[in-house]
Amino acid sequence: NPIMPPDLNEGAACKIAVEDNFPPGSDFLKCCPPYQGDTTLVVTDYTFPKTPLRVRRPIQEVVNDSEYMEKFKTAIKKMKELPPTDPRNFIQQSKIHCAYCNEAYPQNGDVNATISVHNSWIFLPWHRYYLHFFERILGSLIGDDTFALPYWNFDNPDGMTIPTIYTDQNSSLYDTYRDTSHYPPKIVDYKYKYTDTDVTDDDLIAENLAYMRKTFKEGVPLPELFMGDQLRAMENPSLTSPGQLEVIHNSIHMWVGERELPHRDMGTFVTASRDCIFYGLHANVDRLWSFYRALRGNRLEFKDNDWLDATFVFYDEEKQVVRCKISDSLNTSKNVLHLCRVHCTMAGRGA
Ligand code: C2O
Repeated sequence: NPIMPPDLNEGAACKIAVEDNFPPGSDFLKCCPPYQGDTTLVVTDYTFPKTPLRVRRPIQEVVNDSEYMEKFKTAIKKMKELPPTDPRNFIQQSKIHCAYCNEAYPQNGDVNATISVHNSWIFLPWHRYYLHFFERILGSLIGDDTFALPYWNFDNPDGMTIPTIYTDQNSSLYDTYRDTSHYPPKIVDYKYKYTDTDVTDDDLIAENLAYMRKTFKEGVPLPELFMGDQLRAMENPSLTSPGQLEVIHNSIHMWVGERELPHRDMGTFVTASRDCIFYGLHANVDRLWSFYRALRGNRLEFKDNDWLDATFVFYDEEKQVVRCKISDSLNTSKNVLHLCRVHCTMAGRGA
């Protein structure tokens, strides 16, 4: 059977998140949504809206578009300034990730089987939805329903450093909990695990490119390898493996976050999306998935209802709780376009 969303009307459905690197009782682990236990809650089925098209661009392109950058920064600022209990508030949004990633939701009331959206075929579609709503909320806060997140195209040599739009201390996009020794001009290492490599920049770029090529080449015939192991209801996600794209993405998380425990913000799922850079990273992960799909002639990755019917709940930009199915997230071509005119050797135009 497919993974189903938690029973939200039950007072006890959501638990304290689990992460050993935070002290028990820490506020960071309180990630349950504000609607928890609300018996009047109405949950409706969501389908991707038809229009308008949101055009995501690489960060190197938006960085010089001052009008866009003003909008982006204003939208994030407004999101951070919303009341702390507003489900659209920036920290509330990050708690959605924490709850779904750190075992806050039991499946079918069974605390031994929790919902977890990493390490399996759930990873890409869940994060696609997560970004989708985050982006729509930002757009609605600035009254622009075409607003689109930028993507950090770390698959291109020009994108293999932390984008400077996130490093300005006076910007709403800034975050204090990072490894600043990895700020530009340091080249990101796709295999990073808290030990810096000593190869030269040119060699590291070449290694990254080769690794990405290999990921696609091996992954195109084998969706399980690229996207992650199958995961069905009541199965334990700690026993499944992530896809190769997720593995690269994990290294980028570690590379950006603090080197010391608990690796805030990006280095631990509890806090990762408290750093705006998360959304740039994931916009590119989503784009690489679209590119992967295109390479496969848009064939369905898994003809399996346990994948297609897997369902989650999110808040939309109207603060409504909506039920989202993986199958509805697959064809987004009318909804999101990843435009690439420059700095994009890996995935071409319009993937
Ligand atoms: Cu849910 Cu980049 O992680």
